[in-house]
Amino acid sequence: MFDTLASQPNDPLLALIGLYNSDKRADKIDLGVGVYRDDQGRTPVLKAVKEAEKQLLATQESKSYVAPEGDRQFLDLLWHLVEGGQTGRFAAGVQTPGGSGALRLASDLLARAGARRLLLGVPTWPNHPGIFGATGLNVETYPFFDVPTQSIRFAGMIKALSGAQKGDAVLLHASCHNPTGAPLSAAQWDDLAAVIAERKLIPLIDSAYQGFGEGIEEDVYGLRKVLRAADEALVAVSCSKSFGIYRERTGAIFAVAGDARTAEIARSNLVTMARTSYSMPPDHGAAVVRTILSSEELRRVWMEELDSMRNRLNGLRRELSAALADSWQLAPQIDEQEGMFSLLPLDQADVLKLREEHGLYMPTSGRINIAGLKSADIGRVAEILKPLLR
Ligand SMILES: Cc1ncc(COP(=O)(O)O)c(C=O)c1O
Repeated sequence: MFDTLASQPNDPLLALIGLYNSDKRADKIDLGVGVYRDDQGRTPVLKAVKEAEKQLLATQESKSYVAPEGDRQFLDLLWHLVEGGQTGRFAAGVQTPGGSGALRLASDLLARAGARRLLLGVPTWPNHPGIFGATGLNVETYPFFDVPTQSIRFAGMIKALSGAQKGDAVLLHASCHNPTGAPLSAAQWDDLAAVIAERKLIPLIDSAYQGFGEGIEEDVYGLRKVLRAADEALVAVSCSKSFGIYRERTGAIFAVAGDARTAEIARSNLVTMARTSYSMPPDHGAAVVRTILSSEELRRVWMEELDSMRNRLNGLRRELSAALADSWQLAPQIDEQEGMFSLLPLDQADVLKLREEHGLYMPTSGRINIAGLKSADIGRVAEILKPLLR
């Protein structure tokens, strides 16, 4: 039967990695792949993670199954990091294989609960439409960002959400928007929360970069505001970036409701959907995160490391924006944006030209991973980009 299937194209980002690797030029630059890199181009294991792994190796006594919802202490600690005991809402969590697994379970739950539509901002992480489409949800869009002017289309966003109805879910990025880096201001989050409350929408908040934007607490301001406003909500958390444990596939989905009983109903559904899919999540990454967050010392080390990743990103944004400023009037926006990504106003021909003529790699959308820059490369990258950014 398999030969009756249509072959599927490779994921364009994975294909880009292959192209980059086979480029022989010594001065090639990879701004494509979506992982954090240090100034030597490495994605190191954090010290706090190494130490937690040492402790686990020395003390772990069993590899027996964990609870159906995963590691409960991990879930409690992670929820506290995200929600901070500040919303007065009831949450029930299920540990998942990464943030992607959390989004997939969220999508399954919304489909099972009969959500009318799921609204996605344009643009958004390219995997979002695929994950939500796979569960048969009716996916529609709202405007989020205008690339040529590098600005959030806030009026358009509010207008679209004001036309939505009870039973509609809306996907929001908690911080460090992928692919635009464009941050909503506190006042915009407040307005958004008011519309969500008024229209009785279900927010699905994707939190994949806590601590990469302005800080651990600052990056969840909007998330907490929206949770206080919504009757019911879902929060998908990824530990991949904030703890640098990408391949350990660590995350969680939290169902949020006004009473414990409703949250537990949602959890029981999430657990049964996980059970019939992959049964249980992998343990190691969650055990690492639990070990870090439950130790004062390891938490301190981790927060310092997270601060230094954020400071590096912010420094690179400042330098790139300054280097482009004499020829591109929107250059200050690069500095205003946050997290790893910005979306440059480049078309496909521009992106291919940069790749072929200069060995500068990015996906055809024009998204750049700021962490792929080394300080020493910024002058050259700016000169290469200038003729195309007008
Ligand atoms: C916006 C967003 N959400 C979720 C994820 C999922 O991350 P993971 O499944 O690797 O934890 C990513 C990863 O790139 C992302 O950018």
